[in-house]
Amino acid sequence: MVSATSMGYDDDRASINLPDDKDMLSKVKQVMKEKSQLEPEYLVVVGIGGSNLGTLAVQEAVLGKFYNQLDPTTKVLYADTVDSDLINVIVKMVETTLERDGNIILNVVSKLGTTTETVANFEVIIDSLRRCKKEYGKYVVVTADEDSKLWNLALKEGFSVLEIPKKVGGRYSVFSPAGLFPLGLLGINIEHLLDGARSIRDTCIDVDIEKNPAAIGAAIRYQHYKSGKNIADLFLFSNDLESVGKWYRQLMAESLGKEFNKKGKKVNIGITPTVSIGSTDLHSMAQLYLGGPHDKFTTFVRVENSTSHIYVPRLGGYSELVSGIQGKSLKDIMDAILEGTKSAFGKDGRPFVEITLPDRSENSIGQFLQFKIIETIYLAYLLDVNPFDQPNVESYKRETRKILARKKKY
Ligand code: PA5
Repeated sequence: MVSATSMGYDDDRASINLPDDKDMLSKVKQVMKEKSQLEPEYLVVVGIGGSNLGTLAVQEAVLGKFYNQLDPTTKVLYADTVDSDLINVIVKMVETTLERDGNIILNVVSKLGTTTETVANFEVIIDSLRRCKKEYGKYVVVTADEDSKLWNLALKEGFSVLEIPKKVGGRYSVFSPAGLFPLGLLGINIEHLLDGARSIRDTCIDVDIEKNPAAIGAAIRYQHYKSGKNIADLFLFSNDLESVGKWYRQLMAESLGKEFNKKGKKVNIGITPTVSIGSTDLHSMAQLYLGGPHDKFTTFVRVENSTSHIYVPRLGGYSELVSGIQGKSLKDIMDAILEGTKSAFGKDGRPFVEITLPDRSENSIGQFLQFKIIETIYLAYLLDVNPFDQPNVESYKRETRKILARKKKY
């Protein structure tokens, strides 16, 4: 990992060098500036898997799940699956905006540029744009592999283009233009995000393993995997981190779930990632977690400082409903619930680690994502699998393309 930091984008571990790429950042900022001058009411992100989960994770973690409802300058819509009901609503919102002369930015993100869902959604949405705007090209940003078919089409059409470096795979691309452009356009401080990623990267490649949290995390997880804990639950005690959980689910599932090991031996190996939200999921999953099989390893994540402070009021006549909560902050109550949960896990011999984020700032979220990326790479080395490919995902994509090519309609 240390040597990878001096190899730029010429190595499979290239993604750990994204935070150092000043040229990439300045290109992203230039396109951000151009597009924000159009004062878009909506940013429509078209992408799936690694091409949108990182953006969604950071956006919700930093700006909150209710971001669109808080009347921001630019709202965000994600077209990440070919669900006609979902896409129909997005198309309606886009068309209503365009018909009253408002603007949108369409950001299509696809590393290979051949993903069926992404290309289908892109064509549906750009059709609306073409009908409503004569100079439709200036509202489109394509983020892809340089020289892919999508990239070349973008150049022909006069769209802005941003490159995802060749060796940076989808699930490792959140710090590339795939994540940086849409996040920056929404007002996220992408420099702080990258600063966080860079600072923890340097800690996570420390050769003194006892000072290296990613190496420690991977070693603990590996040891528990060897003793039968093949489910990894990320238990997030912060509602706005739910999509961070989904981003991590992909990172772990696609990087470690493999048919063959690095020597080519069939191993069908993997750790199954799950995501839980505290305290909500204690009321749906805790029975299984505390009473069910001893096959899980849990990572609790809590956020130390919240921007909002809500107290349970001292209402007369209500104090007997649940004693001990009046006058306390919701954060105190949440912390007590987490303490209680950890204590119950400990008493029952259910293994866990706990990570405390200072806050949900760009810097802290950048650190957390980068930490998890490097921890996953270490874990893949311990499991002797290649964390950077996804041959079985590609096989479903190929099969789908074949079926679509031979059938006219269903
Ligand atoms: O991590 C991955 O490589 C995948 O999840 C891809 O991101 C996903 O399949 C989308 O691929 P693409 O970005 O090429 O459209």
